[in-house]
Amino acid sequence: MEYLYDKLVKYQEEDVYPMHMPGHKRNLELMNMINPYAIDITEIDGFDNLHDAEDILLENMEEAAQLYHATHTHYLINGSTSGLLVAIASCTNKGDTVLVARNCHKAVYHAIFLNELNPIYLYPEVDEELGIHRGIAPEQVKEAIEKNPNIKMVLLTSPTYEGIVSDIRAIAEIVHSYNIPLVVDEAHGAHLGFDKAFPENAVACGADLVIHSVHKTLPAFTQTALLHSNGDIVDYDKIRMYLQIYQTSSPSYVLMSGISNCLRLVKEQGAELFKEYNKNLETFYKASEGLQHIRVIQPKDYTRASGIYAMDPSKILIFTHGSSLNGVELYDMLRERYKIQCEMVSKDYVLAMTSIADTKEGFERLINALLDIDKKMIGQIKKQHVMLFSVIDATLVLTPYEAYNQRKERIAIENSVGRIAGEYVYLYPPGIPLIVPGEEITKESISKIQEYKMAGLHIKGMKDSNNEKILVVGEQ
Ligand SMILES: Cc1ncc(COP(=O)(O)O)c(C=O)c1O
Repeated sequence: MEYLYDKLVKYQEEDVYPMHMPGHKRNLELMNMINPYAIDITEIDGFDNLHDAEDILLENMEEAAQLYHATHTHYLINGSTSGLLVAIASCTNKGDTVLVARNCHKAVYHAIFLNELNPIYLYPEVDEELGIHRGIAPEQVKEAIEKNPNIKMVLLTSPTYEGIVSDIRAIAEIVHSYNIPLVVDEAHGAHLGFDKAFPENAVACGADLVIHSVHKTLPAFTQTALLHSNGDIVDYDKIRMYLQIYQTSSPSYVLMSGISNCLRLVKEQGAELFKEYNKNLETFYKASEGLQHIRVIQPKDYTRASGIYAMDPSKILIFTHGSSLNGVELYDMLRERYKIQCEMVSKDYVLAMTSIADTKEGFERLINALLDIDKKMIGQIKKQHVMLFSVIDATLVLTPYEAYNQRKERIAIENSVGRIAGEYVYLYPPGIPLIVPGEEITKESISKIQEYKMAGLHIKGMKDSNNEKILVVGEQ
């Protein structure tokens, strides 16, 4: 048997470059710290208590609030997952109706389940050429609230996993005109707002609650995140109560000091680090224009051409249609031949995540690998059919909570059309459910699952590990 620690140590000696989260990129020059055991304490005298902060932790969290221009900021050591659970519970009462983007992370669905909420979904527009989601349009939000005046909260994800940013300022204005809170899952946007090369963050745009995974796009330990609150639509006491419910009573001082150090780095050296980072990104994007078959999305051009509000340039999207490879083949090749581990793969693209902790050499390794692969492709190009990596419009027959509590049976997936789903089906990453319990299963969602399977993507959620049988509500 191999022990986890030994495997991790061996892996870091292999010099595989991380084009994935956490955003510290294992950059030990930037992230030096003493042996973590030396500072791993509990709530001893003089070190405050996260759940009732009044001293050093309060000061550090107030500093974070200042940095992001929020009224209050809370450290989270159970990731954005805990922030989403807290935010949704704070904005709703049991059984409320909520408006949520259907491309939300599974944590949002878990919160809907726990508070027995009735979700109304907003479906983001799909880019048919690239097969990815675009943003949520302000008019969509307005139309949905007008149609459903009992909505108690609006929640959307921006940026998406692929870096697509919605117009949060315009959406916040609409949502507030109905006196409803707007929650933004900005898990992928903790780095936004510090440099003008990146879009503004949702706190500055007026969202009431904003959740950031510090660990995804800034240099910080995995699990670290922030919950920001603004304004007075959401009851602050309720937020504090749920923070205690959804987080451990033994928050790690190693993780908390990791958040504090990360934000200190942004405050004290951010200008310089972001300048260097932008330079590396610009050089990368410029060089990627030389690719003949593989295509790297140019964030500025894409924003202009697609009509989206903005795109975060930190997400490098590498498309394979028009080349001789599919996404999975490119992803494997980058890892095996060029020692570059990317964040995510779909049938038609590979996603590389970058941050201020990436080195010039890291960017060079990626571009040189892509140019090399691209060059060797000449003469063997085939046109590929693009797989839409998007959620399917489906009818919600039962709420997720109601579906969970019904009698269920497991049937062959191809026989499940028209039945009500009893379990989730999703790809991880990104963790956006393709099927949610309570939804009517459609022909489209079944063929999408088959397509994902054929493409070699990792389907999760179904108890049947062969992904051949699905749990549905009722018995026949
Ligand atoms: C959009 C989005 N929201 C929330 C989460 C959960 O974040 P965490 O891993 O920090 O709990 C993720 C994780 O991938 C995500 O992609």
